[in-house]
Formats: sequence, C-alpha cells, structure tokens
Amino acid sequence: MQLIIKPPPSLAGSLRPPGDKSISHRAAIIGALAAGTTIIEGFLEGADCLSTLKCLRALGVDIDGPHEGRVVVRGDGMASLQEPEAILDAGNSGTTMRLLLGVLAGQPFYSVITGDASLRRRPMGRVTRPLAAMGARIWGRQGGELAPLSIQGGNLQPLTYTLPVASAQVKSALLLAGLFAPGETVIIEPCRSRDHSERLLKAAGAAIKVEGLAVRIAGQKPLKPLTISVPGDISAAAFFLVAGCIHPRASITLENVNLNPTRTGILDVLLSMGAQISVMPRGESGGEPVGDIQATSSGLRGVEMGGELIPRLIDEIPVLAVAAALAEGETVIRDAAELKVKESDRITMVARELDRMGANIQARPDGFLIKGVKGGRLQGTVVDSHGDHRLGMALAVAALVAEGPTVIKGAECMAISYPHFVADLARLGVEVREEE
Ligand code: S3P
Repeated sequence: MQLIIKPPPSLAGSLRPPGDKSISHRAAIIGALAAGTTIIEGFLEGADCLSTLKCLRALGVDIDGPHEGRVVVRGDGMASLQEPEAILDAGNSGTTMRLLLGVLAGQPFYSVITGDASLRRRPMGRVTRPLAAMGARIWGRQGGELAPLSIQGGNLQPLTYTLPVASAQVKSALLLAGLFAPGETVIIEPCRSRDHSERLLKAAGAAIKVEGLAVRIAGQKPLKPLTISVPGDISAAAFFLVAGCIHPRASITLENVNLNPTRTGILDVLLSMGAQISVMPRGESGGEPVGDIQATSSGLRGVEMGGELIPRLIDEIPVLAVAAALAEGETVIRDAAELKVKESDRITMVARELDRMGANIQARPDGFLIKGVKGGRLQGTVVDSHGDHRLGMALAVAALVAEGPTVIKGAECMAISYPHFVADLARLGVEVREEE
C-alpha cells in the first residue's frame, strides 16, 4: 500500500495516540505468568503486540481480545506454560522475540521462535548469550545470533550481568528469566533504559528492587494478576509533536500520553530546539505518569544530542531527523549506532529517504549530521518506508511541510505501532489517500 499526502495549509486538533507498545507487550506477558485474571485496557492493537498475544496463545495461555483495546489474560501461574506444537512467530517485533526468549529460557520444554525477514536479521546474541550463562540451551543461525532460535529451557541459575549496551529489551528478557531462577538475578545497565518491566513486575508483586543502575529480582515467587489501563505511547505521539512544531500554522494536542521520564527525551530535545510545547500533567495511568501535550508552530534551532539521552529517545530519532532538517543551523546526533539494528538500518535509510526529499543529512557511523534545509522547504517526491513503521511515519510528517505531494511506498507497516495513524492525519485536516 502507498500513501499520497498533500501538504495541508494548517494542522489543528486533538488526538489520542494508541496505547504504549512497550507496556502492552509487558502487561500481556506478565499477565500470562501471574495466577489469576489480568485485565488490560488501552492495549495497543498494532501488529507487534498482536504477535505477542499470538505467541502466548501458542504457549497455552487463555486470552480474550483485544476488543476495543481490552485484553483479558487468564494466567495460571509461573509453571503453566505448555510446549508449543509449532514454531512461534514474533513477526516484525523485536520486543516479542527478546522478551519471550527470557520466558522460554525458564521453561522445561523445547520451543522455536522466528520472525519476518527484518527480525531474522536483528542481533539476538545480546539476549541468548546471558540466557545461556543462566543455563538455557539456545541454538540459532550464526552461533545463536540470528533467528530462527530454538530453546531448551529450564533449571536456570541466577546471574549478575552488566549489559554492554543500554537495552530495555535485553534487561527485560533477563528479568523475566530471573523470575524462574532460585535466588537473586542482578542486571546492571550502562545508562538507564525504559523501566516499564520494573514497574509492572513490582505491581505484580515480584521481589524486584532498583538501586541506581542495578535491578535486582529474586526468582521463584508467584506473581499477582494486573488490572491496568495502558497510557498513550509517546513514541507514537512524537510524530504529531514534531508535525505541530514544524508546520507554520499548527496547533496539535496529544491526549493521555505516557510521561515516564525514561521515555521523554523527545520533549527535552524539542524544547532545547526552541519548540512551543506545553505539557499538562494528568496524574497516573497503569503505574506511569500521564499528561496532555500541546505542540504549536515553532522556529526550531539545531542541537547536539548524545550520551545518556539516546536511550530516552531512541525510537524518536527518525522523526527528530525531520525536525532537524527544518531547523535553523546544524544538528548532530551521536552515540546512536543502535539505530543500525532496528526494524531497518535507520541510519542509512533515514538519511537516504530524507535526502530524496531535499534534506541536508549525512549518515555517520553512530548517528547523523543534519543541516537545516535552504529556504526551509523539503520537496514532495516518491519515498519508501523500507518496511520500517517509524521511518514511514517520519516521512509522512516530512510530507506535511514539503512542496507538492509525497508518495510513501510500503505504508502498510505503519500499523505495526500506530494502526490509526492515517485516520489521525485525516482528523487534523490532512488530505491523505491510500492506494494499493
Ligand atoms: C523497547 C526497547 C527499545 C526500543 C523498542 C522497544 C522495549 O529497544 O527501541 O522499540 O519495549 O523494551 P532496545 O531495548 O533494543 O534498545
């Protein structure tokens, strides 16, 4: 499917971004291991989270939904999973594969997990190596680096492990495996990554403690079911926050957005670029701070970003590159080599596709050098998502301020994390057409 987007004269309205992807995955997985009925409202009905539900069902978990964002998981305790009869399919979802590897490592049975062509290229050794150190036996292509992966789990031992790269997926996989090991598993991060697993495991009654950059979990304790209302995903809201800032006549409000400080790097950076953004806190939802965010037309300036900020905005870099392309002056993004192993090689592909639109963007080994485009306009043209949802949506945001229409090929992938993205564009008054 391709999208044809015409740059609108103005952008105005309020949107409710979809449920947080990271929290949706985790709530379903933790619910499957708890004894009792977990009720999840606001579950993200994107393809990635549906992959997690499908895998859990294949492991014998009784799940209803999603029906209008409601998922009911009837967990039967830590020892209730069944050996799957067929290969588990994580689709495009790195979170599904990595988190479930942690769970599968703890099971006294054999399982095989794979994913689509993109996921089969992504590094899994960062999870399989420490899981093997806990006692799981895992086989995969290139010495356990690439899926398909087969796992003979069970009899795990606790581990103390320092992550070589900040990764919430790896941290979460090891915490989930730690649930099945006797004694205390300790995971130390080089810098803080998103902490949704810690929050949800705590809410489920796990013996988990966060001490600085270390997370400790004591295993073999039963989990309680959760009742949770998933807040809106700031990584989805980010597309419209940037749209609101870069469009010359815009005012967009994003409602009920997760404001967890491990996820709000995008707000810090946009504010430092001079964005007109205001945040209205609205209390808590699902154990996370939430609020509404309003973005209005802004004159942005280039900035430098790197270091500990990067894990707090890693998924927002494609759309931040669009903001930088329209800002005055230079933007440097460094310490973001992880982008190379996301759903696409985001360093190469973001630079390639934004260059087609006339952006002044240079790929670097660990990020980008971006200079504000002369005359402040990008050119509408034909671009490609390369099957990467966040690249596709970032290009759609660029299209809103380009000269002439933009055609985005491979737009169906946007449903991976934002099923109503096109409808939300239309709600703001954008002329957008889908073509087969
Ligand atoms: C995620 C963590 C991040 C992020 C991904 C979701 C998670 O990946 O890019 O979209 O839910 O834990 P890494 O942990 O690999 O950095």
